[in-house]
Amino acid sequence: MRPLIASIDLSAIRHNHAVAKRCAPGRQAFAVVKANAYGHGVREVVTALFDEADGFAVASLEEAAEVRALHGAARILLLEGCFEAAEYQFAAQLGLDLVVHSELQAQQLLAASLSRPLNIWLKLDSGMHRLGLSEAAVREWHGRLLGAGQVAELNLLSHFACADERGSEMTEQQLEAFLDLLDLDFAQRSLANSAAILTIPAAHMDWLRPGIMLYGATPFADLGVAELGLKPAMSLTAQLIACREVAVGEGVGYGGSWRAERPSRIGTVSCGYADGYPRHAPSGTPVLVRGQRVALVGRVSMDMLTVDLTDLPNAAVGDAVELWGAQLPVDEVAQAAGTLGYELLSKVTQRVPRRYHQG
Ligand SMILES: Cc1ncc(COP(=O)(O)O)c(C=O)c1O
Repeated sequence: MRPLIASIDLSAIRHNHAVAKRCAPGRQAFAVVKANAYGHGVREVVTALFDEADGFAVASLEEAAEVRALHGAARILLLEGCFEAAEYQFAAQLGLDLVVHSELQAQQLLAASLSRPLNIWLKLDSGMHRLGLSEAAVREWHGRLLGAGQVAELNLLSHFACADERGSEMTEQQLEAFLDLLDLDFAQRSLANSAAILTIPAAHMDWLRPGIMLYGATPFADLGVAELGLKPAMSLTAQLIACREVAVGEGVGYGGSWRAERPSRIGTVSCGYADGYPRHAPSGTPVLVRGQRVALVGRVSMDMLTVDLTDLPNAAVGDAVELWGAQLPVDEVAQAAGTLGYELLSKVTQRVPRRYHQG
């Protein structure tokens, strides 16, 4: 069997969920499990959080149906709402909480005949300008939806653009825009993603929406998981499958883009970009061999990558390699590759077997 697995510590996810809840005592939380729980496996994550989660948040009706099949009672929030008119009735059958982010969605909701009313979350565009109604439109639709037959709870939601930049003026403005609407009668309010849960208590409102923090990665460039008290959930582990000596001046990998400046020992690792490792990770990106940091060298191939073992003379074929995980934060690898932990975790491909354990 190809030696590459994503081992996933479900107790770490439970721990991180408890951290989110402890940040905002008395509030409830939609655990964000869209995109296959950021690559961790929605079935296993929902099951792991079965007893403690108040709800789950997803990006599509298909994802919502999967979560509903696993959890009959939890609230399930559809973050982008319905994509077409025909979906409202199915959303009602599944008993979802539905975002309404546009006038079109609001009209479609009012035109739908539903088997039961839905909890509706009017989404305010507080400044991110991706989804959401203007303040005036929220006021207008609040009046039209409150008491409508299709609506059970009428709630307010918005999303931060820069909550990961501490002290951001944009975040202040977004928070103010949200607070400005609270003269209206909303049953529940939700604003905080992981970054806001961890650092902006004024944004906690009634329902948190923790995503990345559940998986033990940081939303911040300057605050690591250990400082935040979070535990990495996924370790992507491979093996050294070949080792060789390379003379000064020799190139390694496609294009020979990395050249040995000293007599070098090169290790080949059983993980490549078809597994989700970033192809653009540059030479120097950290990789852990036998628990020691070494540098990625040369271009990442589809199924393999190469590392410089010159300073690790005892390393040998069969040694364990951690691409990221418990000992090497995914955020560090992401930073080296010019991306985010979010992208690396959610892009681990299907061919990588997930192995689950409890601590
Ligand atoms: C609307 C919304 N809420 C919450 C989240 C969770 O954000 P994070 O993973 O930064 O906690 C996301 C993630 O993209 C989102 O789109």
